[in-house]
Amino acid sequence: MSQDRFQDREGDGVSTAKDTLTVTDNRTGKQYEVEITDGTVRAMDFREIKVDEDDFGLMTYDPGFLNTASCRSSITYIDGERGILEYRGIPIEQLCEHSTYLEVAYLLIYGELPTRKQLDDWVYEITHHTYVHENIKDFMDGFRHDAHPMGMLLASVGALSTFYPGASNIRDENERHMAAVRLIAKMPTLAAFAYRHSLGLPYVYPDNELSYTGNFLSMLFKMAEPRYEVDPRLERALDVLFILHADHEQNCSTNAVRGVGSSLVDPYSAIAAGIAGLYGPLHGGANVQVLKMLRRIGSVENIPDYLESVKNGDERLMGFGHRVYKNYDPRARIIKSNVDEVLEAVGKTSPLLEIATELEKRALDDEYFTSRKLYPNVDFYSGLIYEALGIPTESSTVVFAIARTSGWIANWLEMLEDPEQRIARPRQIYTGPRNRDYVSIDQR
Ligand SMILES: CC(C)(COP(=O)(O)OP(=O)(O)OC[C@H]1O[C@@H](n2cnc3c(N)ncnc32)[C@H](O)[C@@H]1OP(=O)(O)O)[C@@H](O)C(=O)NCCC(=O)NCCS
Repeated sequence: MSQDRFQDREGDGVSTAKDTLTVTDNRTGKQYEVEITDGTVRAMDFREIKVDEDDFGLMTYDPGFLNTASCRSSITYIDGERGILEYRGIPIEQLCEHSTYLEVAYLLIYGELPTRKQLDDWVYEITHHTYVHENIKDFMDGFRHDAHPMGMLLASVGALSTFYPGASNIRDENERHMAAVRLIAKMPTLAAFAYRHSLGLPYVYPDNELSYTGNFLSMLFKMAEPRYEVDPRLERALDVLFILHADHEQNCSTNAVRGVGSSLVDPYSAIAAGIAGLYGPLHGGANVQVLKMLRRIGSVENIPDYLESVKNGDERLMGFGHRVYKNYDPRARIIKSNVDEVLEAVGKTSPLLEIATELEKRALDDEYFTSRKLYPNVDFYSGLIYEALGIPTESSTVVFAIARTSGWIANWLEMLEDPEQRIARPRQIYTGPRNRDYVSIDQR
């Protein structure tokens, strides 16, 4: 309810210290007591509120899920007001400093940090499932030379379900585990194949001697050399980016994975739905939009004009604002501190970084942005790192998809084990006409 429709009558009420909400239906004068658990009321409790026996009952209306919890989850905690992000309770800052992406993937999926043996086994399994069926190469070859890598990734991950039909047996714990391993292992291979296809370059097979990120960089960039030499600074910077992107609770793509997965489809199809969600410019595609925006601004002198057009509503400041963070996005802070290191490692300077830094400074000095609590989000600087690594703009969302796979799987598994989950099937408020007669085509 908007503020003008919902008057908070402070001081009129009497506190009873009960975890319930009393609702008066002014249409009937009846009162209802609704339980409050974890600061939440159940939408189904409102169904009891009816004007008469034939009434369907009250529904809640929440386009875009602005204030609706769709699940209980113990995977990722975000406090948007304070800028806190934790995976399984561990702050993102600690994970970025001490952990690796594969260890974090294990943590997200299995709930605990692995022991040494568990981690070694996990890394071994992932490393030894990085190859894809040769037919996948033919499948990739079918795409036009200029096909968008996200479209190719989306299609090829969906196609994996046909290579592993056993995965549709989602109640089998071993099948679920194998799907998790295969998806995490093969995603970099598929992403790199998509990139090589767009350049007309031969595909590079995985190298089991390299780390997860080292292998990905090798599959992207190896040419004629017998072994791709990975700069450890870049390997680590990419690993940190992967950790930062691994999960972010019920965002658009994760909600898509859960929603599609709730039909009990196989995990490859559910994850393909997540990739589709991530593709959009308001979600994972935002880092691409940031780079395009920075290029369009072109130089520091043009920033004031650009900010004016944002304030006039003609433009959007891409990489700024977040549905949940109403304070600095903690991921943006970590990424920002990595940009310089990556540029130093590759021996490049970035004119776009100069524009981005100045743009951030001016926006954070501007009442328009501060009053709306618009701060840089993870995408504001990530595109710059991808660019410094030599990953083309088009492919940066693909890299995001690799990292987010562990979070999608963790959420998919949690959804399957949650006895409260049902097939995702929202209600609607029908606004169209009723009871019209069909008119034959020659009378229209
Ligand atoms: C992320 C995003 C989709 C969140 O949207 P949301 O929670 O629905 O927020 P709203 O669109 O309701 O924005 C609230 C207000 O801030 C403004 N706003 C939000 N993001 C803005 C941005 N990036 N640039 C300029 N204004 C912005 C809106 O115009 C609105 O202003 P108003 O109250 O005067 O109408 C939105 O901030 C956005 O489009 N950001 C740019 C894309 C991006 O970086 N996405 C990556 C997210 S990780």
